[in-house]
Amino acid sequence: MTTQFQLAPRMESLPPNYFFELRQLLAEVAASGVEILRLDIGAPDMPPANFIIESMSGAADDATVHSYSPINGAPEYRQAWATYYQNRFGVTLDPATEVFSLLGSKEGIFNLAQVYVGAGDVVLVPDPGYITYTSGTLMAGGVVVRMPLLAENKFLPDFDAISADDYARAKIMWLNYPNNPTGATAGLDFFKRAVELAHQHNFILAHDAPYADITFGDYRAPSVLEIDGAKEVAVEFNSMSKTYNMAGWRTAAAVGNAEVLRNLGRWKSNVDTGSFRPLMTGAATALTGSQEWLMARNDEYQLRRDMIMETIAAIGWEANVPEGGMYVWARVPGVENTATFVQQLLRETGVSLTPGAAFGTTSPDYLRFSLGTPTKKVRAATQRLRDWSA
Ligand SMILES: Cc1ncc(COP(=O)(O)O)c(C=O)c1O
Repeated sequence: MTTQFQLAPRMESLPPNYFFELRQLLAEVAASGVEILRLDIGAPDMPPANFIIESMSGAADDATVHSYSPINGAPEYRQAWATYYQNRFGVTLDPATEVFSLLGSKEGIFNLAQVYVGAGDVVLVPDPGYITYTSGTLMAGGVVVRMPLLAENKFLPDFDAISADDYARAKIMWLNYPNNPTGATAGLDFFKRAVELAHQHNFILAHDAPYADITFGDYRAPSVLEIDGAKEVAVEFNSMSKTYNMAGWRTAAAVGNAEVLRNLGRWKSNVDTGSFRPLMTGAATALTGSQEWLMARNDEYQLRRDMIMETIAAIGWEANVPEGGMYVWARVPGVENTATFVQQLLRETGVSLTPGAAFGTTSPDYLRFSLGTPTKKVRAATQRLRDWSA
C-alpha cells in the first residue's frame, strides 16, 4: 500500500499480527460464498454467567461511576483479585501494592517491555508463543532471544540451553502455562527453577496466566506466586478474558512484585486512564462469586477438544491431548510450512486454523485449533476436515 506519510523506523520491526492480516483473506473467501468456520482465534464464544452481567449493568446505573477511575483499579477490584488469589492459589497479595489493573493483559504485556527494556537488552521469549512478548520487546529496542518449546521437552523451555551471555543481558523472561499455543501445562518444580534463575540472574520473571482456570479433568494449574520468594522477582499477568468469557471487557490485572507494578503504573499513567468502573464491579463479582459455572464451560471446551483430537487421529495429523488452555496444537506430517497449507484449507473447506508461523519461528510445521468456537461449528469443521482429507 502506498502512503503519503513516512512511517516511524520502528514500524519496520513490528511483527505482523496474524489475525490483523487474516481479515482480507476471510473477506475474500466469504465473498466466494463459502461458509467460514473460524477455529483460528482464541476468543471465547460463550458469555459470562448472568450474575456477572447483572452486576456490571447494575453498577452503571450509579450516576457517580462515569468519571475516570483510579489508574491502578477500583479498590474493590484490587481486593477481588487478592481474594481470588487467596482462594484459588493460597497466595496472599496486598491489594494496595501487589495488584494493578490492566486494560486487558495484552496491554500490560506490551507495556512491561517499555518500562524495563532498553536498546540491546535481552528478553527471553517462548517460541511458539503469544506475539505480544515479541512485539513489546522489539518496540522497546530490545533483543528477542527465543526459548524453543519442543514436543520432546513437553513444550517447556530448556533453561540449560540459554547462554550465560543471554542470561547476563536478560531483563525479562516470559512464561505462559497453560500454554498458548501448545496446550502444555507446567508444574511447581518448573516454576521453582524459573524463580531461582530470576534471582540468580536478576531478571523479571513474567508469567502470563490467562488460561489458569481453563483446565480439564482433575488438573489444576498453579500460579508462579505459589513459589517461596517469587514475589521478589515475579509478576503474573491474569485476565478476565478467557477464565470468565469476558474478552471484550478488556479487564485484567498484573499481580506480584510491587516495585515492578509501581513502575508499570508510572508508564501507564501516561498512556491510559484506567478502566470503566462498572466493568471492574462486574469483574470483582466474577472473581469473588460462585466459580461453579466455569466447570460446565470447561466441560464444553473438553468436548470440543476431544472432537478435534479424534479428527486429528483420523486424518493422520499428530497432537498431544492438552490438559489446559483453549487450543490443540497439531503437527501435519509432510507439510513443512503450514502458512500456505492453512490458506488452501480455508479456501477449499472454509475451515480457518492458525499456522505455526503466527507464533514464532520454531514450529512452521504445526497449526493451532481454537476451542472458542460453538460446539456445532466445531463438529461441522471436523467433518469437513475428514471429508477433505479422505
Ligand atoms: C497467552 C496470552 N496472553 C495474553 C492474551 C491477551 O489476553 P487479554 O484479552 O487479557 O488481553 C492472550 C490472548 O489471546 C493470550 O493467548
